[in-house]
Amino acid sequence: MEENSCLRQAKCRAKGGAAGFKVAILGAAGGIGQPLAMLMKINPLVSVLHLYDVVNTPGVTADISHMDTGAVVRGFLGQPQLENALTGMDLVIIPAGVPRKPGMTRDDLFNINAGIVRTLCEGIAKCCPNAIVNLISNPVNSTVPIAAEVFKKAGTYDPKKLLGVTMLDVVRANTFVAEVLGLDPRDVDVPVVGGHAGVTILPLLSQVKPPCSFTQEEAEYLTNRIQNGGTEVVEAKAGAGSATLSMAYAAVEFADACLRGLRGDAGVVECAFVASQVTELPFFASKVRLGRQGAEEIFQLGPLNEYERIGLEKAKKELAGSIQKGISFSKK
Ligand code: NAD
Ligand code: LMR
Repeated sequence: MEENSCLRQAKCRAKGGAAGFKVAILGAAGGIGQPLAMLMKINPLVSVLHLYDVVNTPGVTADISHMDTGAVVRGFLGQPQLENALTGMDLVIIPAGVPRKPGMTRDDLFNINAGIVRTLCEGIAKCCPNAIVNLISNPVNSTVPIAAEVFKKAGTYDPKKLLGVTMLDVVRANTFVAEVLGLDPRDVDVPVVGGHAGVTILPLLSQVKPPCSFTQEEAEYLTNRIQNGGTEVVEAKAGAGSATLSMAYAAVEFADACLRGLRGDAGVVECAFVASQVTELPFFASKVRLGRQGAEEIFQLGPLNEYERIGLEKAKKELAGSIQKGISFSKK
């Protein structure tokens, strides 16, 4: 039977092919971390994979290290091993922190996750200040500003290299829009801008590719479903956490785009929550072009219809408070 090309390339590289990148996952033993680690192990662009968590990394590392793909896997357990986990990394992916239970908002995670993200980013500033950071831990609208403040304080802040991961919103939007249009989701591209919580998640349905149109009823249904996709999973899991498998898939798609950018590929464009001048807010999610320096170009929103303009105002109002909350936490 023919092997899939991803696996085959990874194996080829193990036999002496092109050098790859060094990637660390912080929170690697968690619900997202484990499938994310598995998928990064089969990514042919990865040569070294560091798995860090405060629990269970020896088991996860032993397990994943038996996969016959090119990346060399090493495990790191607990705060004393954080620096070794981070030293020399090109890309650091952070899914560390607690997930929601039914009835909670992402902001309810702030008190625990803010401190976790701060500590991990202090390690990054010290050990791999030039790495690209993909921040998944919620509330992303606040954790990205926290990370920025940590890096500023350390004198290492490069706004192009700090990326809040909003890819799952795009993945969901592509899926739900494809369902309505009767298309294959792989052929659909929906820009999702703003942030990563409730009304801050703003799908631009007027800019869907391939070009199409929606009734107002369809636009409202799709916008609501995309904005509440996370809650849909939290409720279905009924106390056992939030999205992990679709998130790992989305995180790998995004990380792979960052690595292709680092390699120098042209035209790598994805949505991410970044330092931005697209609106009056200091951070905003929009399409960015990924290159050797990270988010090298941030695209404007393009023409919006009336429904999207109203959505944008709501999104900005909530985002402003979440961003400020992150900045204030870091300045305390
Ligand atoms: P989980 O509880 O299954 O896993 C989290 C992992 O983080 C655990 O293994 C835990 O030990 C580890 N951890 C805790 N403190 C740590 C520290 N100080 N250093 C390193 N690791 C630490 O949770 P999960 O389902 O994997 O979700 C993780 C986070 O990702 C949550 O905050 C969740 O809300 C968020 N999330 C974000 C998105 C997104 O689109 N950005 C999507 C899904 C989930
Ligand atoms: C998601 O969108 O699935 C994540 O942000 C997790 C959550 O709490 O909804």
